[in-house]
Amino acid sequence: MAERYPFSAYPNGWFRVEHSEELAVGDVKPLRTLGRDLVIYRGEDRVARVLDAHCPHLGAHLGHGGRVEGDAIRCPFHAWKWDGQGRCLEIPYSRKIPSKAQLRAWETCEKNGFVFVWHHRDRTPPSFELPDLAEYGSEAWTPYEKRFWKVRAHWLDMNENAVDQVHFKYVHGAHTIPETQVEIDGAVLRCRSRMKLGTPKGEVEGGIDTTDYGPGFQTVQLSGISPALMVNTVTPIDETYSDVCFSYTVKIVDGASAARGVGAALIRDLEKQMNQDIPIWENKKYFPKPLLCEGDGRIGVYRKWLRQFVDWDPKRLED
Ligand code: FES
Ligand SMILES: [Fe+2]
Repeated sequence: MAERYPFSAYPNGWFRVEHSEELAVGDVKPLRTLGRDLVIYRGEDRVARVLDAHCPHLGAHLGHGGRVEGDAIRCPFHAWKWDGQGRCLEIPYSRKIPSKAQLRAWETCEKNGFVFVWHHRDRTPPSFELPDLAEYGSEAWTPYEKRFWKVRAHWLDMNENAVDQVHFKYVHGAHTIPETQVEIDGAVLRCRSRMKLGTPKGEVEGGIDTTDYGPGFQTVQLSGISPALMVNTVTPIDETYSDVCFSYTVKIVDGASAARGVGAALIRDLEKQMNQDIPIWENKKYFPKPLLCEGDGRIGVYRKWLRQFVDWDPKRLED
């Protein structure tokens, strides 16, 4: 994959690494993400923490057999204890702790039902925040309906999907090419598409408002038929694969079961769209200077915005 894309496979931003409900207090799990081996655990203080996986002592993977103690984790091999900042708190059989005993701790945030890590090539602190979504956990909205894919595709191709207005007609069978407007505010990009939707009651004006918060987190607000929100995350696993999760929630207007019905229909449509997009993503080539034409919309604007998150030297190794 690296040779297909002239920039790093791991952009800067917040990336989903876990679902909140799948990480109970005391849980410890290995993560393979962003080209690295990491460990995630939830301390007794309920905070999710992410560290580099391999214990600096003799290299055990903390995600396989590590145990939570308070807000720290104990290595399964020789019982060294590490806190959430990656500091060694205790070696039970030694009076001294080597001064280099330090694990990389990853900045995390837990929002909207997900745990995210902040990745920056130069390890600089987060330069933007993710939003708190009012719909998440609200009684007026259905619980998330989630779908996952492990796709042999680059994060950029999946992200570009929303601004590629023409493909909605030729890949997904939309009746018309939507009108798309893009607005940029630092790390946040808003894309508003308006289109006519065919319904049993005739045509209605439909809208898709997509907001990207860096390359790893996106919300999509649907209006027109039934208000719905899709929360999308893309996390590069390694140079070849990406981990994609789409979650739908639907506003409860005519009762919970009607809303669930709308949600199920949206998920079916989403699955159909993914099956249409994936063969294109898996086999396409990245052109740094694509041959764009008048009707292509905002692809150029989108790529320009993404540059702020990307390291253009794919061979520069991270420390
Ligand atoms: S490898 Fe972790 S304590 Fe020895
Ligand atoms: Fe698509």
